[in-house]
Amino acid sequence: MKSKAILITLSLCFVVNAQTEIKLQLGSSDIQISKHIYGHFAEHLGRCIYGGFYVGEESEIPNLNGVRTDIISALKEMKIPNLRWPGGCFADTYHWKDGVGPKQDRPTIVNQWWGGVTEDNSFGTHDFLNLCEVLETEPYISGNIGSGTVREFADWLQYVNHDGVSPMADLRRKNGRKKPWDVRYWGLGNEAWGCGGHMTAEYYTDLYRQYATYMTDWSNSQKLYRVASGASDGDYRWTEVLMKNIPKNLIEAVALHSYSVIDWGNKGPAADFSEKQYFQTMQRAHMMDEYITKHVAIMDEYDPERKIDLIVDEWGGWYNVEPGTNPGFLYQQNTIRDAMIAGMTLNIFNNHAQRVTMANLAQAVNVLQAVILTEGEKLILTPTYHVMKMYAVHQDAMLIPLNFKTPQFSFEGQSLPALSVSASQNTSGDIHISLVNIDSQKAHAVSIPLEDIKYNKVSIEAIHSPEIQDHNTFDAPHKVGIKMFTEYYIKKDQLQLEIPAHSVLLVKIEAN
Ligand code: AHR
Repeated sequence: MKSKAILITLSLCFVVNAQTEIKLQLGSSDIQISKHIYGHFAEHLGRCIYGGFYVGEESEIPNLNGVRTDIISALKEMKIPNLRWPGGCFADTYHWKDGVGPKQDRPTIVNQWWGGVTEDNSFGTHDFLNLCEVLETEPYISGNIGSGTVREFADWLQYVNHDGVSPMADLRRKNGRKKPWDVRYWGLGNEAWGCGGHMTAEYYTDLYRQYATYMTDWSNSQKLYRVASGASDGDYRWTEVLMKNIPKNLIEAVALHSYSVIDWGNKGPAADFSEKQYFQTMQRAHMMDEYITKHVAIMDEYDPERKIDLIVDEWGGWYNVEPGTNPGFLYQQNTIRDAMIAGMTLNIFNNHAQRVTMANLAQAVNVLQAVILTEGEKLILTPTYHVMKMYAVHQDAMLIPLNFKTPQFSFEGQSLPALSVSASQNTSGDIHISLVNIDSQKAHAVSIPLEDIKYNKVSIEAIHSPEIQDHNTFDAPHKVGIKMFTEYYIKKDQLQLEIPAHSVLLVKIEAN
């Protein structure tokens, strides 16, 4: 039964543009959107691990082995597919053996990149990998190449993955874990061109080849997935050198980092930003499409069979820290602007799913574009959390290519595509279309032809709030969230709606 035509009178306070038709190219692709595009990142940085995820077993905040249970529940509900750890820049300073064994015997480490704080190493390999098991998420370990050794790296792999008798597997058992964790995803260094050692691309590729040679599939249960430290933004030469110099049998993926930052010297406030800063952030976020397209074009030259993946293992908005907080802790609020970044970026990733098979939002808790913020025992879910949760329907679904011409979002003589869209179909035949209107002033009317689709029901969810600066606070935690959107109608097999200014919508077309 087709859903009844619903006509709701809109009390729109926005100007509406002419209608855009979005055509679904059903049956025209066999590309799966990897669930790993919806991955996250937890670095030893500020209050992400210590004072965020990890409060310790003695804490009065409810916890499981020291990890907050409210964070565990929220991440599970969001369907977190993977978690990258321990950095970031921190990864190339981290010596994993300092974080195993009895906690009282562990040496301290000074977190040289992030605030110079002394950490007690109470959250280490076991804590992280056991947490991933509880979250039912894949761990993605970032190994130390910048200040470590090949032996240290190979030992870590043996420690977590070897089931037989070996020095590191025996040490793991002595430390309380019998079975290996079978970790598949390994990063070989992080930002090798910067905090990971300030290397040239040529030097890094030589080092990469050396490290990758000694990485062994100890468990044999799954093939290792080795990720080369990638370029930042439009550094295409870096990708080219990696693709040219690393033999294909030593690599599974090349990384890319790209942050939506207006100006590294003047990033602007996270919540109290101007209309101009909003537009500039959207410009930066929109660049992701160009970066991916150009990096992929280089990869296509050296790997036309598309065996090597591109993974964007750090992305998100980056602003000034909240006033009065440690500048090295990167703690920032998260607004409707961040929901726009997340919605648009995830649509870009979905539409590039043929090469982009993993991505990691920076970061999960209390750092940069976090999905969760905590203050003492309080916790809030940010607008970005709600986008991630809403978009989880795309995880492992088949990409549906689209055909549409977006209207423009103009500001002071410059313009950007106002609409960003991606669509997928799951194994039950349900179709999901995620629509983002980044235009801060105008709603945009769209129509989606449904005549080729056998459906039972259409429903729409929305993330919207009156102001682009709106956000959740510890006193008002539910200001921004997911709501049902009823302002649409179906006429002559066309779904018609107006996407309000600065909003993210998810159209669900349930199969018959
Ligand atoms: O996510 C914060 C930092 O940004 C990471 O540690 C580093 O890789 C990047 O520069």
